[in-house]
Amino acid sequence: AGYFTYDPGFLATASCESAITFIDGDKGILLHRGYGIEELAEKSDYLEVCYLLLNGQFPDQEQSEKFHHVILHHTMIHEQLAKLYQGFRRDSHPMAIMCGVVGALSAFYHDSLDVTNETHREITAYRLISKMPTLAAMSYKYSNGQPFVYPDNSLSYAGNFLKMMFAVPCEEFKVNPVLERAMDKIFILHADHEQNASTSTVRLAGSSGANPFACIAAGIASLWGPAHGGANEACLNMLEEIGSVENIPEYIDKAKDKNDPFRLMGFGHRVYKNHDPRATVMRKACHEVLDDLNINDPLLDVAMELERIALEDPYFVEKKLYPNVDFYSGLVLRAMGIPKSMFTVIFAISRTIGWISHWKEMLDQPGLKIGRPRQLYTGEVGLKIDDVKNRS
Ligand code: CMC
Repeated sequence: AGYFTYDPGFLATASCESAITFIDGDKGILLHRGYGIEELAEKSDYLEVCYLLLNGQFPDQEQSEKFHHVILHHTMIHEQLAKLYQGFRRDSHPMAIMCGVVGALSAFYHDSLDVTNETHREITAYRLISKMPTLAAMSYKYSNGQPFVYPDNSLSYAGNFLKMMFAVPCEEFKVNPVLERAMDKIFILHADHEQNASTSTVRLAGSSGANPFACIAAGIASLWGPAHGGANEACLNMLEEIGSVENIPEYIDKAKDKNDPFRLMGFGHRVYKNHDPRATVMRKACHEVLDDLNINDPLLDVAMELERIALEDPYFVEKKLYPNVDFYSGLVLRAMGIPKSMFTVIFAISRTIGWISHWKEMLDQPGLKIGRPRQLYTGEVGLKIDDVKNRS
């Protein structure tokens, strides 16, 4: 002990310098390349935000057209990769499939991919942004036994994803503009969040010079946990379990009980100690979508009452626990007809641009060092091996 700073959970350690995303957790501020998340969600679209995160500025007309063109022309995946899906059990969680199939992209782009080459890094980013919705929708189609739907490059990024999710060959499919807008907003709100667990995982994996598609698969694994991206699915499970407004006090008590591992899912954040600005935008979007679709969801009533009670409860107030983005995103996705098991997959589609922008930023900087945390060793030293007969 004594040689290194001990900071489990990285509560006070900056792991890198970055110019991509800024968070002020006390004030509830989130900026991407200097632009506030509220304005981005209101006035921009997901592909523009992708360009911004990746390149540091918004595209002009010509750059925007070129970017859209290049993204649309990488949406297909190799037919051999499509066959990989058949190896999964049909009841596999779509996140399990995503860890596998995104990692498998590394087999398709390996020998010809030089991560020290700037153009290769750029094309890797394009490929990932383009292919994630295709791979994600395929993981859903596989689970419900419907045929895969090929990407439709005449549609928007969000519209194409919805079509690949919900179209079937026997019926004509029309994208619902309300759902398309809502999907795009969800993509924007989850696009990046500086050095969270999954992004740090991607950076650490990438710092060894590893194949970027394999690094993104590592990020997907990290995102899956209920303390991170898995919270949206876990939150909806919790709301369903609570079931009705009368049961809320019992769950609030459980969340406060130190002998009970239960936590209010969709509540609390490592960095935001005032409010999560993404949650504010998502809350509004949630009400709009439910109104537009004329949906009366009893779980929304449970969520609103839970939020009201928790925000007034001294336990949550003192610990500065506020609803985070995932408290509302599940309700919006549910209203859109998206099954719970796909919630975290949708988070993964959105966050891919964050992961790959951070990966690219790291490799664009000169003097890259492999990430190599140290430890405080707490084990034994100087032991000698006993003969097996003498061991007790
Ligand atoms: N319900 C009840 N108590 C909580 C909760 C909660 N959701 N979150 C934190 N606490 C308590 C915790 O028990 C601890 O109490 P004490 O100091 O008495 O031991 C205190 O608040 C601090 O918690 P922590 O776990 O030390 O805080 P952290 O910064 O390590 O964890 C968190 C942050 C997000 C993992 C945690 O708040 C949590 O588990 N929330 C529920 C899961 C969730 O909604 N995650 C989504 C995060 S936003 C999406 C994303 O970007 O990933």
